[in-house]
Order: sequence, then C-alpha cells, then structure tokens
Amino acid sequence: MSTTFTLDTSTSRANPTPKPLKRLTVPAVQRRKFEGKTEEPLVMLTAYTARTAQLLDAHCDMLLVGDSLGQVIYGLPSTLPVTLDMMCNHGAAVVRGSYHSLVVVDMPFGSYEKSPEQAFESASRIMAETGCAAVKLEGGQSMASTISFLSQRGIPVMAHIGLTPQAVNALGGYAARGRTQEEHEKILADATAVADAGAFAMVAEGVLEPIAISVTKSVDVPVIGIGASAQCDGQVLVTEDMLGMFERTARFVKRYHNISENIEQAAESYAEEVRNRSFPGPDQLYQPKK
Ligand code: KIV
Repeated sequence: MSTTFTLDTSTSRANPTPKPLKRLTVPAVQRRKFEGKTEEPLVMLTAYTARTAQLLDAHCDMLLVGDSLGQVIYGLPSTLPVTLDMMCNHGAAVVRGSYHSLVVVDMPFGSYEKSPEQAFESASRIMAETGCAAVKLEGGQSMASTISFLSQRGIPVMAHIGLTPQAVNALGGYAARGRTQEEHEKILADATAVADAGAFAMVAEGVLEPIAISVTKSVDVPVIGIGASAQCDGQVLVTEDMLGMFERTARFVKRYHNISENIEQAAESYAEEVRNRSFPGPDQLYQPKK
C-alpha cells in the first residue's frame, strides 16, 4: 500500500499500536487525489465491531462505521431508527480494533439536520467518544452550510450524495439516482456544493455511471463510489454484503464469499455433535492431573 501513515487518533485501546503502523490521516486521504486524479483507488469497507475492524484494517485505507449497522446488526427495517448511542458504541469498538485505517463514523438520522449547531454537538460527541477522525453525513446543497460549519471547527466531513438511504421516504425507495435530467443536474450541483463547503471526500451512492464519472472529474476531493463507477477515486461496500451474509443484496454488490453458508454448516455440525454427545470431546475437556 502506498499510503503514508502519520497519526494515531485512538482514545483507548487494550494493546499499544504496533510500530511502525500509524493511522492514515484526512489530509493524506485528500492528497491521494492529485491534479484531479487518484493513481491508486482508495479502499473502504464498513466495520461495526472490533474483531471485524482487526481483520479488515490492513487491507483498507478507510473503515466506515456506517449507519447501515441498523439493518446489518440490529435487524431494523431502515437506517432511520439508528441512534447516536449506537454509532458511538460501534465507532469506539472499530477504532479500538484498527491501527492504520482512517475511521469515519456516520451521523445518524435526526442528529444533524436541524442546524449546524446541532450537527456540531452530535459530531463532537461522536469524535470524543469514539476517537474516529471524521464523520459522514447525507445530503448535498442542503447540507453545505453545515459541512462548512463543521469543517471550519476541526471536524472533517465526508459527504454522501446520490442515493441517500436516510431520505428513503422522500425518495420513494432505494432505486439508482440520476435517470432524469433534473436528478442528473442535482447530483452534479450537490457534489460541487459539498466540495466547496469543505467536505474532505464524498460517497456517491447508486448513481448512473456517466454521472459518477462526471462527479469524479468535477471535484478536487476523492469521490468514493458504491453502485457508481470503477472510475471513482475509491470504492466502499458493506462488508457483510460482500461476504455473502445476506440472501438478497443490491445489484451493485459483488459477493467475494458465501459466509452465510459457512455459518450454517458450522451451526449444523455443532448441533449434531451436541445432540449425539460427541462434543465436547477429549480435546476440549479438563481432567484431574495424574
Ligand atoms: O451506512 C453505510 O454503510 C453507508 C455506505 C453504504 C456508504 O453509508
């Protein structure tokens, strides 16, 4: 990996950071896009637990504690019921479990839309309680003043444009965005607005490929695609989706594994061995010393 790591922002950790690993910083992520181009695309995956963070850390530039944890971890129907407490608890676990990826924590629905001041209160709590380096929030032009307020006060913001899941009720579903001229223009205007407001990077989710390419070319900050284009400056996926944890996933997900099958097979073997009393066996038992 070509990244330079210079700062460790964790607040608490059971074990010290192994040298020479240092955490990737926000300016280092920004520098990966130089004169409008990103030589080596940025790699981002979601993580919600310390152990997952440990496993992904060496392979990623950024770990996203996404509010998708609402569906993935808590079985909620959407991201809307996700709370600040959930994001803080999972964010802290991911920071503890990682050493060099830059950790970004999602701001949950209702924690930032009211005013820049409300957003500052929520974001500063997330950063103080988790040790993450940046927050992510959904919205384009309508969030520009909030992004500017946070950025000017030391809170790095990753924006999220295109398909914004917290707006599922207003959008009428999770379909790709940009099929009408109006939507197309809005996505481009959103990208410019959040970049001008000071977002250090942005996620472009579920947008038609030509629009994703235009967005990537039109802003100086890295554009991280999901259901967008391989020409973006980086990619993000929900880890459980790419591991094959769920039966149904969006079209843009590529499954790199079929972990649900492995889990079911392991559970089946365990249940059989418990029922026929072959588990625990001699290797798992303690006997008096002879
Ligand atoms: O919540 C999340 O996991 C996200 C990604 C899908 C970008 O926002």
